Parts: sequence; C-alpha cells; structure tokens
Amino acid sequence: MKKDLERVLYSEAEIHETVKRLGVQISADYAEKNLLLVSVLKGAVVFMSDLMREITVPCAIDFMAVSSYGQEAKSSGVVRILKDLDIHLEGYDVLIVEDILDSGCTLNYIMGLLADRHPNSMRICTLFDKPEGRKAPVKADYVGMLVPNEFIVGYGLDYAEKYRNLPYIAVLKPEVYKG
Ligand code: IMP
Ligand code: MG
Repeated sequence: MKKDLERVLYSEAEIHETVKRLGVQISADYAEKNLLLVSVLKGAVVFMSDLMREITVPCAIDFMAVSSYGQEAKSSGVVRILKDLDIHLEGYDVLIVEDILDSGCTLNYIMGLLADRHPNSMRICTLFDKPEGRKAPVKADYVGMLVPNEFIVGYGLDYAEKYRNLPYIAVLKPEVYKG
C-alpha cells in the first residue's frame, strides 16, 4: 500500500487533535439542541466514529449512502442514493458529517433532499475541505483541515475502495489513479 503514496499530509496525532477541536465546538453549539449526526458512507465512517466520542452532549446517529465517484478520482457530478436514512428528521438538529468537501455536488444534493424533510436545523461538518475543487455553492459550518487540490487517501478515504484503513492522510501518487 505504502508504495502508492507520495507523502503523508496529516499524521494520526494531527487528525486526532482536529477531531477533538471539532467535538468541543459542536458540544458547545448543540448543548440545548436535539443533535442528530448524519454520516455519508463509506468515507466518513472513520471520522464519524471518532467525532461522536468527542461530543459530550446527547446525540443520535444515522447513515446514508450515495455514490458520486465510482472508480474515478474525479467527480462525475452524478449522485445516486444507495441507502436512505432510517430516522425521520422532524424535531432534529441535523449535522451532516462528511469526510471531504470537494466539488460540493454530493452535499449540495443531500442538503436539498434532507431540507425537504423539515429538520429543526441543518449544518455541515467536514473533516477535510478542498476549496479549490468547489463547483456547487456549499459552505461547511465546521471544517477540520484544508487540503490542496490533490487526491488524498486514508482515515476512511479511498481510491477504488483501497487505503481506507490507513490511520493517517496521505497524497496518492498521481500515476496510481491516472494509470
Ligand atoms: P464532492 O461531491 O466533489 O464534494 O465529493 C465528495 C466526495 O468525493 C467525498 O465524500 C469523497 O468520498 C470523495 N472525494 C473527494 N475528494 C477526494 C479525495 O481527495 N480522496 C478521496 N475521496 C475524495
Ligand atoms: Mg464520502
């Protein structure tokens, strides 16, 4: 696996510090709310499981799965629901937990869909933000770390379903996804 990596971008310790900081912020902001963390499978699952343990106020969790990339490293702009939420959103303050915000097409679609279900409120928390990649008008309310316009893997993030189990974030060598 390591031979495919160009360099480590964020270490395990750096990620942990960031997740802790986000947990503190969210716990303060949602003290009087009815928090529901909604995570988008599968990339955000590692972040979700760490973040929820840094949140000190009561919260529910739910998952949805969409596909936007397939085997490609570039966004196709097409978003398909593979698994919907189980929980009805009415009465909940929804916080969408994302691994990485790139073009914003995925979240733009999901936000529209969930807004129609009338939650109390809806915000976005993303661990990584790639602002240069943005195509849709989406802004995250909580951002962990900025990343350059390169393809990163690890800590849940994959390329063609690989590298999710790396505990750190690394830049993938371009020749790996460009063939
Ligand atoms: P967006 O719709 O372009 O914002 O794409 C968001 C989704 O694309 C993320 O949830 C990731 O699953 C995937 N993605 C975007 N950039 C990367 C990357 O650098 N590495 C791995 N997955 C990425
Ligand atoms: Mg994702």
